[in-house]
Amino acid sequence: MRIAMIGTGYVGLVSGACFADFGHQVCCIDKDSAKIDGLNAGRLPIWEPGLEAIVKANAERGRLTFTASLPEGVKDAEAVFIAVGTPARRGDGHADLSFVFDAVRELAKVIRPGTVVVTKSTVPVGTGDEIERILQEEGVGGVAVASNPEFLREGAAIADFKHPDRIVVGAENERAQEVLKEIYRPLFLNRAPILITGRRTAELTKYAANAFLAVKISFINEIADLCEAVDADVQDVARGIGLDNRIGPKFLHAGPGYGGSCFPKDTLALLKTADKAGVDQRIVRTTVQVNDDRKAAMVERVARAVGDLKGKRIAVLGLAFKPNTDDMRDAPSIPLINALVERGAEVSAFDPVAREQAEKVFTGIEFASDAYAAAAGADALVIVTEWDEFRALDLDKIAGSLKGKVLVDLRNVYDRVEAEQAGLVFYGVGRGKLEPA
Ligand code: UGA
Repeated sequence: MRIAMIGTGYVGLVSGACFADFGHQVCCIDKDSAKIDGLNAGRLPIWEPGLEAIVKANAERGRLTFTASLPEGVKDAEAVFIAVGTPARRGDGHADLSFVFDAVRELAKVIRPGTVVVTKSTVPVGTGDEIERILQEEGVGGVAVASNPEFLREGAAIADFKHPDRIVVGAENERAQEVLKEIYRPLFLNRAPILITGRRTAELTKYAANAFLAVKISFINEIADLCEAVDADVQDVARGIGLDNRIGPKFLHAGPGYGGSCFPKDTLALLKTADKAGVDQRIVRTTVQVNDDRKAAMVERVARAVGDLKGKRIAVLGLAFKPNTDDMRDAPSIPLINALVERGAEVSAFDPVAREQAEKVFTGIEFASDAYAAAAGADALVIVTEWDEFRALDLDKIAGSLKGKVLVDLRNVYDRVEAEQAGLVFYGVGRGKLEPA
């Protein structure tokens, strides 16, 4: 199958590379020609485990090409995927669809009848209808529009794409259904369930999935607060409820609140859709509030551990919104570090890969070369992102280099006993009473 992929962000590049890996002929298009030049020279715009190897192998075999010219990229395509960004519109939280519609208008000038246009970007309900309207307005006929939301996670993108829990195809049009089934055929052979739905249903399914996961996280974060008040352990509570198949064990890790490019943006966009439809979504609205409050409250946890923050030196481990990515979008580290700096603390931070991105976000903090260098002379060490390399730190060495012997573990990587054995005062999340006995 000949596929064009418009947009080489996370979703576009991973999907394009994986489709090529399935054996399809894929052309990835991006109007950012510097990005395309980089990709043609083998340089990836994002850091994602395993992606570089797949891009390289398929580019070498000629199955994956890159171009900044949309007409050239879609020339022979049987399916054109739109995977451009749909960021939150500044001010009102609506999904900004201008990149999607710009791409469709450009596409309308060159697309051939019989082509299937597929939205892979996360787009609000009704976007497919609007795309259809634009195509008609531009005089294009015989083009089917489908929705195929993507559920991959950053940091685990290749595995998620190749072994999805399900594939959702929203298309009333039979040809569109057949083309998408053909594209995903290698996954059916692996028995990945495919769900064919109406287009609007598929569009909403994506938002409902992200909102539900966000609810799970905010739920367990509130239970963690309760655990601290009543001296219970949230890890055990999570395990105790997660073993119930109806609840499931995933997305029940208490922490500093969810971040990233999806949950914060998509929960807001869902609320906007609901507002427009005149249907209140109280659970999602509260989830957003709980998460915003939680991120803002993390600085208090550090202040409780070290006292007045003014003049204190705080070591921060992990800056990206989660491990295995350099993505800083809506990372919990941002409000925390900004608040630390505002309250007069010095910050020395370390992240295994996000330094370059983090330098664009923070001013007035130091970047250390590793976890131990960050800890040297600090009054407290705060773990914000649970990178694997922070899971087996030599706590004796950390304790030896810290000035104040305080470990604030916002990801529950360590437990109190092992931290105390190393001579550290431990503050976790929901692991019994917050204050040490
Ligand atoms: C999320 C969804 O998990 C994907 O299915 C979806 O495709 C993607 O959004 C998207 O819409 O594009 P992602 O944002 O890459 O993926 O990252 P997650 O692994 O879901 O983590 C999101 C945030 O939740 C992170 O800040 C993470 O630390 C936090 N989280 C996650 C928790 O605090 N606790 C948990 O138990 C799980």
